[in-house]
Amino acid sequence: MRILVLGGTHHVGRAVVEAALSRGDEVTTLTRGASGPPAPGASARHADRTDPVALAAALGDDEWDAVVDTWSLAPRVVLESARLLSGRAGHYTYISSRSVHVWPIPVGADESAPVVAGDPDSPDASDYAAAKRGGELAALHGFGGPVLLARPGLILGPYERVGRLPFWLNRIGRGGRVPAPGPPDRPLQYIDARDLAGWVLDAGRHAVAGAFNTVSRPGHTTMGELLELCRTVTGADAELAWVSPEAVVAAGVAPWTELPIWLPPTGEYAGLHSGDVSAAHSAGLTCRPVAETVADTWAWLQAEGLPAPAHPERAAIGMDAAAEARLLQLAAGPEPGR
Ligand SMILES: NC(=O)c1ccc[n+]([C@@H]2O[C@H](COP(=O)([O-])OP(=O)(O)OC[C@H]3O[C@@H](n4cnc5c(N)ncnc54)[C@H](OP(=O)(O)O)[C@@H]3O)[C@@H](O)[C@H]2O)c1
Repeated sequence: MRILVLGGTHHVGRAVVEAALSRGDEVTTLTRGASGPPAPGASARHADRTDPVALAAALGDDEWDAVVDTWSLAPRVVLESARLLSGRAGHYTYISSRSVHVWPIPVGADESAPVVAGDPDSPDASDYAAAKRGGELAALHGFGGPVLLARPGLILGPYERVGRLPFWLNRIGRGGRVPAPGPPDRPLQYIDARDLAGWVLDAGRHAVAGAFNTVSRPGHTTMGELLELCRTVTGADAELAWVSPEAVVAAGVAPWTELPIWLPPTGEYAGLHSGDVSAAHSAGLTCRPVAETVADTWAWLQAEGLPAPAHPERAAIGMDAAAEARLLQLAAGPEPGR
């Protein structure tokens, strides 16, 4: 297949490019070039997508079987691309997000849960949920063919620039007593970018259209298993000091941002690790074991280091020494047997 990746050098886009090349597809990427070249074998084109004239010039008159659009900012940019490629591409995937749902996302929500308002022609990206919903509408309005709205929740795996799993790997890798937000059996739901990439490419091949929650089944792993795997792959002499959700609140440490990946099991965040993913899994989505994701992310970090965040304005990730100290004061002892 001829695949056009709008993006292609960061986390999800890079995974799509590598997956497509490994299948023998012909891959074109479109970036500004600020993030370096795509994987060897892909044909790189350069333009700033916020300039429709430059974008049109870079894409020329070429045609593609499928497009994967990784844009996460102003919806208007998606609208311009979808219109430009309408009639010249067989399928359009927009990498959206479960964030399009009205907050708080209900526990067990499927794709039909209410979504926020979005404007496909908006030049504004200040509200992430509205920008992603606007991006969805832009793809649907602009492209005259099948449109897949892939709605991941948490995305992990190699090349992750947000730095969530990298935070835990680096912190646990430094050893010592590490506050671990519990309970250890807290179920998690996420997708490895490589599994998302593979499924999206299959969906393009089969012209799958519509919105799909694209993450693992709830409980694909747990907080305990994930952090233990971080200890295993880094070989660190770290001790996980489990902290209850109530103690996290008492310590004033923020879920998700200061404690990446972790969300309390109850309250407004509960729905984020418990989405209904039956539609995507019925349509062939499979998720590799968490051990592979953790090991390969560590291997990538060792080889390349953590790159600068793609969107530096979006919250710093990880707890600082003061937050750690507050949590450790409230931590239980080591797990039995350690
Ligand atoms: N991380 C998560 O947990 C999560 C969860 C749900 C959904 N998502 C969604 O997943 C997607 C992540 O995809 P990703 O990792 O591939 O995206 P990304 O980090 O946003 O990368 C953007 C890509 O687009 C290029 N680019 C940026 N500005 C550009 C411009 N003005 N013109 C042309 N190209 C430009 C970049 O290359 P250059 O800099 O070289 O131009 C890069 O290749 C996003 O849509 C995000 O909303 C993420």
